[in-house]
Amino acid sequence: MKRFLSLVQPSGSLTIGNYIGSIRQFVKLQESYDTFIGVADMHSITVPQNPEFLHRRNREVLAWFVAAGLSDKHCTFFIQSDVRLHAELAWIFECITNMGELSRMTQFKVKTEGKTDKKIPCGLFTYPVLMAADILIYDADIVPVGSDQKQHVELARNIAECFNSRFGDTFVVPEPVIPNVGGRVRDLQDPSKKMSKSATSPKGVIFLDDDEAAIRKKISSAATDMDACVDYDEASKPGVSNLISIYASLNEIGLPEAIAKFKGETRYSVFKKAIADCVVEHLMPIQERYRKVLADGMVDEYLDKGAKRAREVAGRKLDEVFAKVGFGRA
Ligand code: TYM
Repeated sequence: MKRFLSLVQPSGSLTIGNYIGSIRQFVKLQESYDTFIGVADMHSITVPQNPEFLHRRNREVLAWFVAAGLSDKHCTFFIQSDVRLHAELAWIFECITNMGELSRMTQFKVKTEGKTDKKIPCGLFTYPVLMAADILIYDADIVPVGSDQKQHVELARNIAECFNSRFGDTFVVPEPVIPNVGGRVRDLQDPSKKMSKSATSPKGVIFLDDDEAAIRKKISSAATDMDACVDYDEASKPGVSNLISIYASLNEIGLPEAIAKFKGETRYSVFKKAIADCVVEHLMPIQERYRKVLADGMVDEYLDKGAKRAREVAGRKLDEVFAKVGFGRA
């Protein structure tokens, strides 16, 4: 059985962008793959975190996974820091990755824009190498992610190929899988940006734990345009197009069908209400399950079981790598 792996950072409340771009894909794929799903807490400290919040969020992210429909029957759930071997492999990868490759990472450029070197933690620079280790240590065949992470998965491919050519066939070269619709959910207030947990204002971000009133308010005040005509055009109508994409993804219909449903509607208020209804209809049952999952106390059991299997799989791979690199004694 082929393997799929993906991780999500616990650096803030999850957004509908995380859900549409990644978690929904996981749910669809879980039965057809040997699935590894992780909470990337080691990644999240590239920006300062409150340790108490981080502990709590690790568990909460896992509860969202389960509430969204992921099951321990199909998934090995783990917290990244429970499998410290990732960091050991990342060190080896850092030694075969050059600064030029990492300097080209778009996310690094965006996150460090306007900052002087003194204010940029090295971890922010080397973070994609740790992500490569997350992926390659499990020999993942596919990595479903939103489009913002595609470049990082491509770096993981390069690292796998580089290691394989230097030390002999060792790692599977993984494929990124990006959803056709919803690979980049945009901020509702500023559609030139992706919707992000760490946005400066929460107004353009729908969090999975937003209540119904907040969801409706955010959607009704989403930026649109002056045309007063619903249509899909990412360049000239990014706000409206973003809302149509959200609708299409949540209803699991193609973009043409979603566009046809609203085409020609001149009242943005009517259009936005339909989008808000759809988001509320999807998120409310997930929120209800989320509360139950946290209350039923199963999260720790899933994580203990998952960490055990993840350590076994990752441990075997790392032993092989250590031997190939020449560590220890022959
Ligand atoms: P993170 O935590 O920022 O996001 C988790 C997943 O959600 C997707 N995503 C989005 N998709 C569509 N629209 C959006 N607005 C949006 N915002 C986020 C992301 O693309 C991602 O798939 N580095 C990763 C976590 C990670 C990882 C890995 C992923 C660590 N190790 C190994 C895959 C494999 C990150 O920061 O994702």
